[in-house]
Amino acid sequence: MSHRPLQDAENAQLMYDILRSPDEHYDAVRRFSSSLILSVVFGKRAPRFSTKEVTDFYHVQHMSYPPVDQVPILKYVPEMFAKWKRVCREVHDLQHNSYSGLLEETEKRGFENGCYMETILRRAAEWGLDREMVGYLGGALIEGGSDITSSFTNSMILALIAFPDAQRKAHEELDRVIGRDRAPEWEDLEDLPYIRALYRGYKIPKDSAVIINVWGIFHDPEVYNNPEIFNPDRYMESEIGTKKSHENDIGQRNDLSFGGGRRVCAGIHVAKYSATINAMHLLWAFDFSPSKNAKGEEIKPDVWDYAQALSASPNPFKCTIRPRSTQHAEIIRQRFTEATAVLKQFEYGEIKDAA
Ligand code: HEM
Repeated sequence: MSHRPLQDAENAQLMYDILRSPDEHYDAVRRFSSSLILSVVFGKRAPRFSTKEVTDFYHVQHMSYPPVDQVPILKYVPEMFAKWKRVCREVHDLQHNSYSGLLEETEKRGFENGCYMETILRRAAEWGLDREMVGYLGGALIEGGSDITSSFTNSMILALIAFPDAQRKAHEELDRVIGRDRAPEWEDLEDLPYIRALYRGYKIPKDSAVIINVWGIFHDPEVYNNPEIFNPDRYMESEIGTKKSHENDIGQRNDLSFGGGRRVCAGIHVAKYSATINAMHLLWAFDFSPSKNAKGEEIKPDVWDYAQALSASPNPFKCTIRPRSTQHAEIIRQRFTEATAVLKQFEYGEIKDAA
């Protein structure tokens, strides 16, 4: 099943949420990615960031970073000397309750909306999956699909306020190709080389825990010019963003941030579409600039301020976001109204906020 209509509809809400409450841009992006993946996997969306499933998920995601992942021998340390073991137990219980609750809702819903768990539940016995496995299969997709996808878009916003030249070039291209009388469409990407380059210009933050050393690879000054700089132009000059001398290196890819080999990201297509439409629409509609302090001076954005958690996301940051014209704002409102029919298919029963 193609998830694109749902991705477009969730993107319409993201744009509307930022238009309405620009100061809450960070959580608006996190709501987008969680709601999308909850709908794709369990068929239930999250219309607000405060929805229980979303807040539970982010709470768990940022609770633990167990050292045993790096040093496996630590698993032999008795629990009384290892506080992280108790935190892990708590994480397990919270995860378990959240995933089995979602699974139960999928079973009891009384109608199908094409979500992934419907297929898994139908074929669980045939594939030898017990209930715990089915719940965690869904949970693993929620984990893969939420935090890291929002980290991608939030990192882009942080980079835009830190590197205004990149934003200026993107605005110039979008004004020329799209104008202000309509919103961009996926098909426009072909005529938007700078937007394509900008989304590839994503930076993996310093000190990220990754198995393939993506940070090291993307920051090798032998291969990339000024690797510390967010410079989408590098992808205009070369398809893979490297210096000319490395263009033909074996195995070079411009999507290495999704991993490689047999453990390559299972959600790569969903993720690329989300990251691209978000980049294209956010830039088409808004001006991003650093916030100002009480004296009216710009607060310099810190592009290295990242959280150490299961995946590395920028810590919440402030910025000023303004619609680029009243026409842009009107089209955002229209798109959100038009998205209602798609979004409604994933809303049912009581939508609970966290206590
Ligand atoms: C911009 C967004 C994303 C990025 C940068 C990303 C990146 C990655 C990377 C680097 C890995 C490989 C980790 C390793 O080497 O073991 C991975 C694995 C995975 N990703 Fe993603 N991901 C993104 C979005 C998603 C989405 C939306 C989903 C769900 C639909 C997803 C589901 C998964 C799963 C299930 C795995 C584990 C695959 C396996 O081990 O067999 N990811 N992702």
